[in-house]
Order: sequence, then structure tokens, then C-alpha cells
Amino acid sequence: MNEIRVAFIGAGNMARSLIGGLIADGWDPARISVADPDREQLNAVAQLFQVHTETDNQQVSGQSDVVVLAVKPQIMNAVASAISAQIQARQPLVISVAAGIRGQDLQRWLGGRCALVRCMPNTQALVQSGATALYANDAVSREQKDLAESILRAVGLALWVDDEALMDAVTALSGSGPAYFFLVIEALEETARTLGLDAKSARLLAVQTAFGAAKMALESSEDAASLRRRVTYPGGTTEAALEVLESGGLRDLFQNALTAACERSKALAKQFGAD
Ligand SMILES: NC(=O)c1ccc[n+]([C@@H]2O[C@H](COP(=O)([O-])OP(=O)(O)OC[C@H]3O[C@@H](n4cnc5c(N)ncnc54)[C@H](OP(=O)(O)O)[C@@H]3O)[C@@H](O)[C@H]2O)c1
Repeated sequence: MNEIRVAFIGAGNMARSLIGGLIADGWDPARISVADPDREQLNAVAQLFQVHTETDNQQVSGQSDVVVLAVKPQIMNAVASAISAQIQARQPLVISVAAGIRGQDLQRWLGGRCALVRCMPNTQALVQSGATALYANDAVSREQKDLAESILRAVGLALWVDDEALMDAVTALSGSGPAYFFLVIEALEETARTLGLDAKSARLLAVQTAFGAAKMALESSEDAASLRRRVTYPGGTTEAALEVLESGGLRDLFQNALTAACERSKALAKQFGAD
């Protein structure tokens, strides 16, 4: 593992988060390369992490054991097609972090069968608290799976799904999920202000309550429903609030919202993979 060379194609937010996580985990920057056409982006990354930088995607792809595709989904076809000869010649592990790009399309663009791990990280990876689901095709070896997992674990939780079709559900839950919680925090803050709290206190109390609830749910052996019941006393304030949320159809709203996100994810995958 100490000799493994990793190349990132794209020097944007996701690549920087992963590189930062890997270096914090003890990876030697000399084993990490980053390619991006934008010299300014590359200089910023080189300054931050002392990694090797390159404007030529083909160059780094042909010299690495792992190639992480970290460009926007819209340009993935062009980027993957342009490095297909290097990927087919060297056969590295390819990891795609692009939302909504299916493995079959990526392999077609990459010139045919290759060891491919498709990931769905979320924006919290930028603060090393991400939740990433990974799917490996059948060309990926046990060692390559461990390697992919260790790279994604550098920015938070990483778990495997054994059916690529589940990536649409993952996208609806953890991919789009940060926005659901931001919306809840936003609504709590706004209401707290109408109840008289100043903006700063409303924000701090709402955010810390969300953080504490997530921490408790993560660390407890009890499920969310029991944790909720344990803080809801008959005739109390929490019960009064929950009755309003339940009778207002909160559960149905989430059911409809996640189903809509899942359907959109399927449609986008079809659109991106069309050519
Ligand atoms: N950020 C997130 O929270 C998040 C969450 C889940 C999944 N993802 C996935 O991660 C991928 C990257 O997202 P991001 O947020 O890191 O985007 P980003 O910040 O825009 O980074 C993409 C980078 O790729 C560069 N690039 C453009 N054309 C290129 C080429 N031909 N070769 C190499 N690099 C090229 C871009 O340069 P320019 O800026 O000069 O165009 C930019 O530096 C996306 O596919 C996205 O779906 C991101």
C-alpha cells in the first residue's frame, strides 16, 4: 500500500477534500498527483498539500494505480474518453465521485472493462464528515475495494452497496440529504426569531440542537424512534410540537420528497449517459 500512486482528475472541491483527508491520514504527498487544465487551481492545491500537479490528464492517468475522477458530471464523457487509452493500457483502479454517472457509461467512455468503483459522497466531505456509498463492479479486487474504502473514509463514513441501482436511493437520502437538514435548521431559526430570540442565538441553538441530535443518534444503540419517544412526555411541549408535525403530514412529505429525488437521479443518469 505504501507504493500506491493516486491521481486526481479535477482539482476542485471534492478532490481537495479527499486529498486533505488522505494527507491527514498519513499518505505521503509525493504519491498523490492532481491534473486540471486550470494552472491557478493547480497552484492552489500544490501550495496547500505539496502534491505533484500536472495539466495533462493522460500523463497522470498512465502513471497511477488509482485514478479518481473528480470532475463535473457534464464533462465526464469528454474527460473519461480522453484518458481511455491510458486506462486500458495500465488498468488502474478507477474511482468516480461524480453524481449520477452510471458504471456502464463510464466503462464505455473509458474504452471497455476496467476496475471501477462508483461513489456517491455528500457535501459534508468538505468538512471531513461526509457519508459516502460505494459500489464496485466485478473487476475490482479485494485489495482495490479496501483501497477505495480507505480513500473515501478519509472524508467520513464509507459504506458499500451491492447493487448499483441503489445509488439512486443513496442520492435521494445522503446525496441530497444535507439540504433537507439545512432547510429544517433554516425553518427552526426563522420561527425562533418570530418567537423573540435574536438571530445569533436562534442560529446557534438550532445548529447545535441538530448536531447534538445527530451525535446522539450515531452513538446510541437505540433507533431514532425510541430516542424521540424518550424525550416526548405526555402533555409536554415536545408532544405538542410533534402532534402538529405529524398531523401536518411530515412523514408523507419526506416520502414524496425522497421519491422525487430518486426519480430525478434516474433521469439525470440517463441524460448524462445518453452519448
Ligand atoms: N462538492 C460536493 O459536495 C459533491 C458531492 C457529491 C459528489 N460530488 C461530485 O464530485 C465531482 C466534482 O465536484 P466538485 O464539487 O469538486 O466540482 P468542482 O469544484 O467544480 O471541481 C471540478 C474540477 O474539475 C476541473 N476540470 C474542468 N475540466 C477539466 C478537465 N478536462 N480535466 C480535469 N479537470 C477539469 C474544474 O476546473 P474549472 O473550475 O476550471 O472548470 C474544477 O477544478 C462532481 O462530479 C460531483 O458530482 C461533489
